[in-house]
Order: sequence, then C-alpha cells, then structure tokens
Amino acid sequence: MLRPLLFILFLSHSICIDDVNQLKAKYLEELIETEVKKAQNYKVRSDNKDLLGDVENSDQIQGGGSAGSVVASRLSEIINWKILLLEAGDINDDFTDIPYVFDAAALSDRNWGYLTVPQKNGCFGRKNRQCPYIRGKILGGTGSINGLVYSRGIKRDFDKWAEAGNPGWSWDDVLPYFKRIENFESKSINFTYRGFKGPLNTAYVKPNSRHQKAFIQANEEIGIPYIQDYNAEKVSGVSNIQHNIQNGRRVSGANNYVIPSWNRFNFNVTLKAFVTKILINKETKTAYGVEFVKENKKFRAHAKLEVIVSAGSVNSPQLLMLSGVGPKSELQKHNIEVIHDLPVGEYMKDHIGFLGFYFKSNNSDPILSNAQLVKEFLEGEGLYTSPSHYRCISYYNVRNKSSPNPNIEIAFAPPHPIKSTLPQFVNYNDEIKEFIGNINQSTYWNLQLFLLHPKSSGFLRLKSSSPKDFPLIDTRVFEDQDDLEDMYRGIEVALKLLETSVGKYFNLTLDLNIPSCSHEKYKSKAFWYCVLRQIALPAYHLSSTTKMGPRNDPLAVVNSKLKVYGIKNLRVVDVGIVPSTVTGHINAQAFLIGEKGADLIKLDHLKIY
Ligand SMILES: Cc1cc2nc3c(=O)[nH]c(=O)nc-3n(C[C@H](O)[C@H](O)[C@H](O)COP(=O)(O)OP(=O)(O)OC[C@H]3O[C@@H](n4cnc5c(N)ncnc54)[C@H](O)[C@@H]3O)c2cc1C
Ligand SMILES: *[C@@H]1O[C@H](CO)[C@@H](O)[C@H](O)[C@H]1NC(C)=O
Ligand SMILES: *[C@@H]1O[C@H](CO)[C@@H](O)[C@H](O)[C@H]1NC(C)=O
Ligand SMILES: *[C@@H]1O[C@H](CO)[C@@H](O)[C@H](O)[C@H]1NC(C)=O
Ligand SMILES: *[C@@H]1O[C@H](CO)[C@@H](O)[C@H](O)[C@H]1NC(C)=O
Ligand SMILES: *[C@@H]1O[C@H](CO)[C@@H](O)[C@H](O)[C@H]1NC(C)=O
Ligand SMILES: *[C@@H]1O[C@H](CO)[C@@H](O)[C@H](O)[C@H]1NC(C)=O
Repeated sequence: MLRPLLFILFLSHSICIDDVNQLKAKYLEELIETEVKKAQNYKVRSDNKDLLGDVENSDQIQGGGSAGSVVASRLSEIINWKILLLEAGDINDDFTDIPYVFDAAALSDRNWGYLTVPQKNGCFGRKNRQCPYIRGKILGGTGSINGLVYSRGIKRDFDKWAEAGNPGWSWDDVLPYFKRIENFESKSINFTYRGFKGPLNTAYVKPNSRHQKAFIQANEEIGIPYIQDYNAEKVSGVSNIQHNIQNGRRVSGANNYVIPSWNRFNFNVTLKAFVTKILINKETKTAYGVEFVKENKKFRAHAKLEVIVSAGSVNSPQLLMLSGVGPKSELQKHNIEVIHDLPVGEYMKDHIGFLGFYFKSNNSDPILSNAQLVKEFLEGEGLYTSPSHYRCISYYNVRNKSSPNPNIEIAFAPPHPIKSTLPQFVNYNDEIKEFIGNINQSTYWNLQLFLLHPKSSGFLRLKSSSPKDFPLIDTRVFEDQDDLEDMYRGIEVALKLLETSVGKYFNLTLDLNIPSCSHEKYKSKAFWYCVLRQIALPAYHLSSTTKMGPRNDPLAVVNSKLKVYGIKNLRVVDVGIVPSTVTGHINAQAFLIGEKGADLIKLDHLKIY
C-alpha cells in the first residue's frame, strides 16, 4: 500500500522516479528491520485487557477476518442495506503485505496471542506443554498474517458435508463459488475447475528454484506423481504451490474485498472495536445488536435485519457463550444466564503439523542482504515475494498409496539464503529453541508435514464470564494414537526422499538429533513418536467449534444456512462452521463460507433470485 510514500509524491512532484524508488526501498528496509526487532522483544499476552481499557447501531458483522471481510463487502453491494463491520484489530499494513515476513507478524499485536491449554499427549517441547495458537487481530484476520497457501480441499470433503445433512455444500454446489472467488494467473490448466475474474489473485510462486524442481523429481522417484493443478480434480501427487499473491504482495480479505468496497456510503468499517456481547432478547430469542468497546468507551449498535458473527473459530464460540448461547453446564459454571443451550465449542477439529522436519544439504548460495531483497521485492520478485516456507506441496495417503483421498500433506521449503531466520511465535522450551535456532536456513531443506484428517478432536471452553479473559483452547493433540502412527508413516515416506538421486546430489541428511529424544534409538519408531510429541503442533487450521449440521446432529450449532439454532437473526459465518476436516489448508474455505454466506443472507431477505 505504501501510503506514506504516495503522500510524499503528492507534495513534491518535481521528485524523480529514481528518488521515489530509493525512498520506498529505504522505507521498507527500515520497516522490516524495526518490525523484526520488535518481534524479537515481543512479550506474550495473557488476556484482552488492552482492548477493554477502563470500562468493564444496522446489520452488523463482528470480525473482519477472511470470511467476515467477504460477507461484509458482498452484503454492502445491496445499497439499501447498511453494513457495520466491527474489527478488534487495526488495519492491515505494509509489513503484513510482504509475504515473506508472516512469521514475524505474529509476534506483535496483530496476533491475539493465544496458547493452547497444557497438552497431555503432545506439545512437550513447548513451555508448560502449551502450543502457540496464532489468530490474526487485524483487518483481514488470520488471512492477513497467514502462509498464503491456496488449497481448496477435494470433492469428497464437500460431498461429505452434504451427505452429513447440509444441503447446498456438495462439491458441485461449492465449485461455482470457488470459481467466483478467484483470479487464477495460470491459464495453462483445465478451465472446468478454475476462476479468472474473481477478487482473489492466485498464482504459482516465483522464483521456481532448482530446489523446487529437485523436490518434484525426488517425489517422482519414490512414486508420487507430478500434478500440475492440485486445486482441480486430482490432488494425490506433488505440485508447485499456489499462493494468494499478486505482484509479490499479499492478497487477502482486507486488501481484495474490504478496501475496494470501503467507500460505499452504506458500508461502515470500524476498526479497533472489540465486541464483548451479542444482544439477544430473552423472551423472543432474537438477536438485535451488539455491545462493543472502542477507545475506552462502551457502545451499543442495533441491527434491523441480522447480526453476523465472523470472529473466527476461536472467538466466535467464546462470544456466543459470553452472550448466553452455549452448553448449559458451561454457562452456569460461569454464572452466565442461559438464553439457549447449544453445543458451542464442544467439538473442535484441527490439522496436526510437524514443521521442524529438517534435511541438511550442501547448498551454499550466497547470503542476500535485506537491501537486495527489498530491491527485488519492489520489482515484484525475489524471496520477500513469497512466504518463507512453502514452495511445493505433496499429498498422499499413508494407509493406501493408491487412494485418491490423501491424509498427509507435505509442504516444502528449499534453503533460503537469508542471514537469520525470522523470529517465530512458537513458545518452545529452551532446548528445542536452541536446536531450531542452530538450523541454518540457507543450507537446510525444510519439510512441513500435516495430518489432514486426524481422529483427535478437542473443545473450546471459557475461562470466565469476562471478555477480558482468553478462551481455553484444548486441541487434545495426539489424544488418538492413530494420529501419531499416521504421521509416523508419513515421515517414513518422506525419508525415502533422502535415498533418491536428488537426495544424493544435494547430500541430504536428516538432522533431528534433539536431546529430549536421545534416549530412543535414532530414527527408530519410538524416536519418531518422541519427536512428534515434542515438536508437532495443532496446525492453526482450527474449525468446527460452531459446527454446521442438521437439527438431529448433537454437535450442530448452525444449520446449512449458517443460522444459529434457536436464536433468530443470528448467523455464524467463519471456519468454525466447517462440519468435517478438509484435505488442505483452510483459508480457501473461509472465503467460500463468506461468499456462500452472503448469498444465503441475500436470498433470505431479497426475493430477487
Ligand atoms: C501462522 C498461520 C499460517 C496459516 N497459513 C495458512 C495458509 O498458508 N493457507 C491457508 O489456507 N490457511 C492458513 N492459515 C489458516 C487461515 O488463515 C485461517 O484459518 C483463516 O484465516 C480463518 O478465517 P476466519 O474468517 O474464519 O477467521 P479469522 O481470519 O481469524 O478472522 C476473525 C476476525 O475476527 C476478529 N475478531 C475476533 N473477535 C472479535 C471481537 N470480539 N470483536 C471484534 N473483532 C473480533 C479478529 O480480529 C479477526 O480479524 C494459517 C493460520 C496461521 C495462524
Ligand atoms: C477438464 O476436466 C473435465 C472434467 O473432469 C473433463 O471432462 C475435460 O475433458 C477436461 N479437459 C481437458 C482439456 O483436459
Ligand atoms: C460507523 O459506526 C460507528 C460505530 O457505530 C460510529 O461511531 C460511526 O459514527 C459510524 N461512522 C459513520 C461514517 O457513520
Ligand atoms: C553437492 O555435492 C555434490 C557432490 O556430493 C555435487 O555434485 C553437487 O554439485 C553439490 N551441490 C551443490 C549445490 O553444491
Ligand atoms: C549458513 O550457510 C551459508 C551457506 O553455506 C553460509 O554462508 C553461512 O556462513 C552459514 N551460516 C552460519 C551461521 O553458519
Ligand atoms: C486403496 O485405494 C484404491 C483406490 O481407491 C482402492 O481401489 C483399494 O481398494 C484400496 N485398498 C485398500 C486396502 O483399502
Ligand atoms: C554429506 O553430509 C554429511 C553429513 O552432513 C557429511 O559428513 C559428508 O561429508 C557430506 N559429503 C559430501 C560429499 O559433501
């Protein structure tokens, strides 16, 4: 966005283009240095006190995240509706627009700052066995600070949603929405599956390094075939990753939905507004507005048509419970008056990620300076234009190699010749921190393994009846042993890459000798189980806390029109509604839910369809 610079340009038009580029470069270099320094000194938050300060009116949406951005801006297309979007965070900024630095962006107030509750079967390598749980507190939500991987999931995922009693959500139903959402840069693919006119740019990341080609070749050698477009019919195989990136910059709900529609007169975007309660009439069980805190003052906003909650899969269930909609026993425990008894937060799914999987290589590309990388970035090129991880992606099923339904995803990060690794929001204990800290990013291959359909599931509860307190996120990672076994089998497949001609060429060797697992035989099954319990984490793809399902589904919170059961004029539109896990990352589903949600709302109120 570079707003300050456009301002300078405006003031003195005698300045020449070279000077402007130099100013831009200097500004970005300094921005990156300052933000990284801030990230290094970041202190983890423990509550929402800063949002509340001293204080203990339209249609509204709470939470301008991925889904909220989409639903709000789509609804604002109806000019005789007034849309109020309340977002707790600030506007997305030049730093979050740089794809490479997303790890560092989480070490700031752009992240809510959650940790899971201490885990019994995993997160052992983290302080107090608490894994980080990053959530974006910023316009565009988690989609403004995420890894930008675009993956839709497969036909079977959505057909399962529909089969579970959610009409309108089968693959054939959602495909037109996926096509409406995107503008796919690549034109050499099967057009049946892809969109080319939507707001969300999708592109293959550049540069396509020799390591990327090598990774694909190595996979082919072990029997994992190359697939050009994993967002089409087939996903089992290895591909180059598609990102939501345009001209090297982040594409998000903020940049590509809200900001372009911001100046519609009927669309009010209010930032730094922390919603503390949904106002619901107890007699009629009808939602009529919200209470929010902005700049130390409490406000109420009233809704004529509907209240739409898009606060994400962690905050939406918390907000519903604080407002009297949730499990009776849980609400009573915190002296919250029960307006409607619903299984909010009772079910929670996530992928499990093993991100610390490193192969040492003999790569020795020269280290690039920040100045050099900024210069390339301004030309829309180079390392800063892509997320630090994630260049290739592979999918396979560890229980049945010929299955078209994968349960493992591997994202591949080639060595990045950058001086130091960016600080990450990880909460590692000192031992693991030291181990990871010694990894030289410019020589190592990094694989990130995700278990896509874990059996473990968790829940989300309240710490107290106050919005000041963080909710309790209990992901119950590895509660089901099968998840450990499946990840272990996924690792076994990945280790075969070392034995390929590519592995030999780059002299790839496993480097995972972490002291806390040294009591097990190196590379034995027990060793891998130990490593997984130490390092794997719930993968930030949290869903299903406000599950969509038919009325007879004991875990359902919303129906297939995303309406909260038992309460009038209230919907949830975010990934919390996802009924069962998807084969891929989950931001694409957030956009889908936003687009489809907006249509459902329009359909209910306008008789035009
Ligand atoms: C580090 C990281 C990397 C990721 N990488 C990828 C990736 O590469 N690809 C992918 O597909 N997915 C990725 N994800 C996941 C994906 O980005 C999220 O699942 C997705 O953004 C969720 O969208 P949402 O709209 O449901 O919620 P969010 O985007 O989280 O939006 C919720 C919004 O509501 C606001 N809000 C919450 N409570 C309140 C309140 N009380 N008052 C006002 N506002 C409130 C929040 O500030 C936020 O803006 C990643 C996640 C993380 C953390
Ligand atoms: C594209 O996919 C559709 C549906 O699978 C198929 O019928 C069609 O033949 C494909 N087109 C090409 C050019 O491969
Ligand atoms: C937008 O909504 C906020 C919160 O209700 C209100 O304070 C503000 O005045 C509104 N802005 C406009 C331009 O209507
Ligand atoms: C790595 O080492 C091999 C020999 O073991 C050599 O052929 C290859 O060129 C080296 N690769 C790089 C990138 O230096
Ligand atoms: C990391 O590896 C690069 C490339 O081989 C090398 O130039 C650099 O000195 C290494 N850094 C450290 C801290 O060892
Ligand atoms: C593995 O998957 C293939 C393809 O779906 C299927 O035909 C086969 O029966 C499966 N094998 C087992 C053992 O489940
Ligand atoms: C390959 O890597 C191993 C372990 O890092 C090292 O001991 C060995 O010398 C390397 N071989 C070559 C040919 O570089």
